[in-house]
Amino acid sequence: MGSWAGAELSALTPLRALWLTLAAVFLLTLLLQLVPPGLLPSCALFQDLIRYGKTKHSGPPRPAACRAFDVPKRYFSHFYILSVLWNGFLLWRLTQAVFLGAPFPSWLHGLLRILGAAQFQGGELALSAFLVLVFLWLHSLRRLFECFYVSVFSNAVIHVVQYCFGLTYYVLVGLTVLSQVPMDGRDGVVIHCNHRIPFGDWFEYVSSPNYLAELMIYISMAVTFGFYNLTWWLVVTYVFFSQALSAYFSHKFYKSKFVSYPKHRRAFLPFLF
Ligand SMILES: NC(=O)c1ccc[n+]([C@@H]2O[C@H](COP(=O)([O-])OP(=O)(O)OC[C@H]3O[C@@H](n4cnc5c(N)ncnc54)[C@H](OP(=O)(O)O)[C@@H]3O)[C@@H](O)[C@H]2O)c1
Repeated sequence: MGSWAGAELSALTPLRALWLTLAAVFLLTLLLQLVPPGLLPSCALFQDLIRYGKTKHSGPPRPAACRAFDVPKRYFSHFYILSVLWNGFLLWRLTQAVFLGAPFPSWLHGLLRILGAAQFQGGELALSAFLVLVFLWLHSLRRLFECFYVSVFSNAVIHVVQYCFGLTYYVLVGLTVLSQVPMDGRDGVVIHCNHRIPFGDWFEYVSSPNYLAELMIYISMAVTFGFYNLTWWLVVTYVFFSQALSAYFSHKFYKSKFVSYPKHRRAFLPFLF
């Protein structure tokens, strides 16, 4: 049982391969952005696919062909609507499985097996997955609330590929949590829609504390999984590099737009990066 479980723990399942690939792609993309300009050829489509929102327009000129695929960034709310519904459904099924012993529907069971769900016994993992799914659902609900009542979206845009990626992401992340179960204020007044230098709290240390907080949320989920869950650490690695990339662009955007931008402020990690 021990060595079998050990083999399970280190197996490269389809989900692990996916998260590993995503993490590697975002790491490579981040490294490419750190290469001094001029050393590598610039590709407008590539830049269009990796930048979104306010940092899209600080890249190279965007050809009309790229602009044709623009989707309003306010559509971010769709990600969280989908996540609340889909992950709410998964949470409901998992609650029934953990507390009432009800089996998953056969299509879901089959899907989880294909994706590489854990095969070894371990009741405590099911409880950890339940807690992580509760956190993920609450997080999505909070983000949905933020999209509707806190965030003031300008006319910023995202590429339709990024939009589809965002939708797929929240479906996959819920399935990843479930695969760990062993088988058997917008109430204020809007003054303007310009991007200003944010100040206070964590903003004194980094340009994008929201991206840093996102990373910490996923790390806290890894802790809930008992710290040694390789699959979830791959999700965390992906979130790390994708948020580092967005934070890097955001930081460059602020530095190019505001001459008085605080010099000591880092992009993503206080004092480091
Ligand atoms: N897990 C993942 O893979 C993943 C991926 C992407 C995002 N996220 C999370 O989703 C959340 C939102 O991401 P985001 O990229 O939309 O964050 P963001 O660019 O910081 O935007 C958040 C809100 O603040 C506004 N804003 C941004 N910079 C501003 C400034 N300097 N002055 C005034 N308003 C400003 C934005 O307006 P505009 O939209 O008009 O700029 C938007 O309404 C974050 O918590 C992020 O971590 C997670």
